Amino acid sequence: MAAPAQIIAALLQPVFAELAEGADPMLRPSSRSGFDFQVNGSIALAKKLGRRPDEVATLVSSGVALKEVCESIEVTPQGFVNLRLDDAFLAACVSELAGDSRLGVEIAATPLTVVVDYSAPNVAKEMHAGHLRTTVIGDSLCRLLEHFGHRVIRENHVGDWGTQFGMLIEYLLDVGETEGAHELSVGDLDGFYRQARAAFDASPEVQERARRRVVALQSGDAETLRLWGVLVEESVGYFEEVYAKLGIGLTRDDIVGESFYNPMLGDVVAELDAKGLLVESDGAKCVFVDGWTTREGDPLPLIVQKSDGGYGYATTDLATLWDRFGRIGADLAVYVVGAPQAQHLAMCFAVAAKAGWLPSPEQAVHVAFGSVLGADRKMFKSRAGATFKLVDLLDEAVQRAGEAVSARSLELNDSERASVARMVGIGAVKYADLSTDRLRDYVFDLDRMVSFDGNTGPYLQYARVRCLSIFRKAGLDPADYLGGGVPIQVGHPAERDLAVALTGFPAAASAALESWSPHKLCAYIYELAGFYTTFFENCPVLKAPNEESKNSRLALCALSATVIGQGLSLLGIESPERM
Ligand code: ARG
Repeated sequence: MAAPAQIIAALLQPVFAELAEGADPMLRPSSRSGFDFQVNGSIALAKKLGRRPDEVATLVSSGVALKEVCESIEVTPQGFVNLRLDDAFLAACVSELAGDSRLGVEIAATPLTVVVDYSAPNVAKEMHAGHLRTTVIGDSLCRLLEHFGHRVIRENHVGDWGTQFGMLIEYLLDVGETEGAHELSVGDLDGFYRQARAAFDASPEVQERARRRVVALQSGDAETLRLWGVLVEESVGYFEEVYAKLGIGLTRDDIVGESFYNPMLGDVVAELDAKGLLVESDGAKCVFVDGWTTREGDPLPLIVQKSDGGYGYATTDLATLWDRFGRIGADLAVYVVGAPQAQHLAMCFAVAAKAGWLPSPEQAVHVAFGSVLGADRKMFKSRAGATFKLVDLLDEAVQRAGEAVSARSLELNDSERASVARMVGIGAVKYADLSTDRLRDYVFDLDRMVSFDGNTGPYLQYARVRCLSIFRKAGLDPADYLGGGVPIQVGHPAERDLAVALTGFPAAASAALESWSPHKLCAYIYELAGFYTTFFENCPVLKAPNEESKNSRLALCALSATVIGQGLSLLGIESPERM
């Protein structure tokens, strides 16, 4: 264990627990200069015990063990405890961290099986900004989960089933299979969908054919299924191109689309019926759950089977819960889905809990997110008013990054430059998304995203490159300074601040995972880069006063590069070696 915060928390926890069951020390980074941490928990504890906060603070901080790791312990009249780490202890922690390939992150004591439902674009429809968010956030959460030792099952709940397929198949036949397939494969999904809809709207004859086609699809007609397969295949091929561009590891094997659940829907409804949960309302089969009402205050139904016998989106999501907890045996099912679907998911979770499919309510999590906005702060649309094409934006980001990289570094050859431009451009888009609290909306502003200044992806990638360039300049290998063999000193205040920040990595990673909030990890890396800059400006490395100090500072540089790189990698962002 190389993180002082964890060591101190472990010292304080039993002291608090002995005074009152479940009392939490609430150890946080200090807001006061000269201190590293503060203990906030004495105030709540004092209230519980009916004692004075400063008295309780003195009591909990008087342990011998705390004195061994803290150089100063200050109790404030309000009952806070301010802690400053002992330099030797801090130096030992950071030296140990440098020798730990996991950078202090411990494997979860009880590894869980977690199904993560993310990305989920729709067949024959363009991926929009919302799909960018779910894809990028979901990917980062999967990486974090796996890093903590959990077993992750990625499920791409592609929208590949439903009555719209009658219309889409008929259009495919009308334009000709080859032409239609071509439109989809080159990514003109919106064009295809729009034309299909226009043809449908314009002709009662097409509507009738589409209606019959839906029946044929549902009854498993072979030719209809083949045509449906063409639509799915071409669209999925296109999604794969987008994933490749984004560097997202979703594959065909991860697709568990809506059609996968189709054969289960009848059983899902039958089981709800057997459990006495179904209520007929206007011919539809519904489940009512306590606490859900319409705006008028009437009970709000979750419709599981329409009056015409058809199933809908809600039935399919009930089936996802049925399957994930029943067949897969998941401990946790995470839905990375936009905030507007909060009510839909909450109702599905509630029904699944009522039906006994969801072992306990906290095992299904809706990781919601806000919208991507245009410069006018309205929904992000292209100039023509259509939803923008994700690929076009990604290409533009890469192109802009390429220009910025060319303007800065002349020593890269063409192929290096192209690869760096890709990492920087894609990293910029991902970082802009991930660094925003996921529940908040953000403006899609490529100029800001690809900027090398401020809280951006390129700034952090560049910060890491700066850490490494010292080694290149001196003809040294950073790996020689990791492994824990080089003692790290924390004499200079800037060295000390950097060391404290470096040891905060495990806490930042677990805070991000615990709240399903990658932006917490982003904020940490950004702050760390700031401490590195101050260190670099104040502490000469290659011209350090003596050999021990030089080696120690080189180790700090190597460790900073490693922590930034590891942090970015947990966000799904690649790190160029040079830029
Ligand atoms: N395909 C849906 C959409 O594009 C998202 C599906 C999310 N996942 C789920 N299990 N409902 O909006």
